[in-house]
Amino acid sequence: MKLLLLLSVGLGLTWTLQDQTLVPVQQGFHPEQVIGSWYTLILASTDPSAIEEGGAYLCYMTGIVLLDNGSLNVTYFHREDGQCVKNFYIAEETDTPGRYTFEYHGKNYLTFVEVTEDFIIIDLENQSEEGSLIVTELHGKTLSTDDIGWDHYYSYICRRGIEIETTVELPLSDCPSTPSRKQGEPY
Ligand SMILES: *[C@@H]1O[C@H](CO)[C@@H](O)[C@H](O)[C@H]1NC(C)=O
Ligand SMILES: *[C@@H]1O[C@H](CO)[C@@H](O)[C@H](O)[C@H]1NC(C)=O
Ligand SMILES: *[C@@H]1O[C@H](CO)[C@@H](O)[C@H](O)[C@H]1NC(C)=O
Repeated sequence: MKLLLLLSVGLGLTWTLQDQTLVPVQQGFHPEQVIGSWYTLILASTDPSAIEEGGAYLCYMTGIVLLDNGSLNVTYFHREDGQCVKNFYIAEETDTPGRYTFEYHGKNYLTFVEVTEDFIIIDLENQSEEGSLIVTELHGKTLSTDDIGWDHYYSYICRRGIEIETTVELPLSDCPSTPSRKQGEPY
């Protein structure tokens, strides 16, 4: 029993350092399930500075559009020089349904770990020679995603070897978010 436990802890550690094929992806993924508007609820990262004020990955995702060629147009807000700036990136399909790549401070993998009608869990990984930077995100269809979404999110970040203390809850206070925006209204 103890040995098994040790073994699985050891596997968990190496798993975080390995390639994307080990990042779980939603089975039976269809892009139609993720298009539309979203509210970013919480972020966590292996590098907390990436999601702190001024960090490259402190982003508030607001919507996903499916393009004709299968790529996704992901709209987000990011704070730059104290201003909240709207931006987008194009995520290209990979051979694995539910996994995409995009360019942002280098090459990133985007994986839809879990997709429900109520919430999505996204795993972002920026791989470079210095190692990999992982950001995990929980997005809800509304601001009040049920407990299941939060439970699954916290289990996932543990599985990814990320400290719960690194989490940042959104919406960003001075980025346009729900209060200033009508439900379902596109940007
Ligand atoms: C898909 O279309 C978008 C928008 O035109 C473009 O930026 C992207 O490079 C295209 N991707 C592929 C794989 O053709
Ligand atoms: C992606 O969506 C943004 C709106 O958020 C739009 O300005 C941009 O033109 C779109 N890009 C593509 C390639 O469709
Ligand atoms: C992401 O990876 C690129 C190399 O692909 C590296 O130059 C960059 O510093 C990384 N970004 C972050 C925020 O770690």
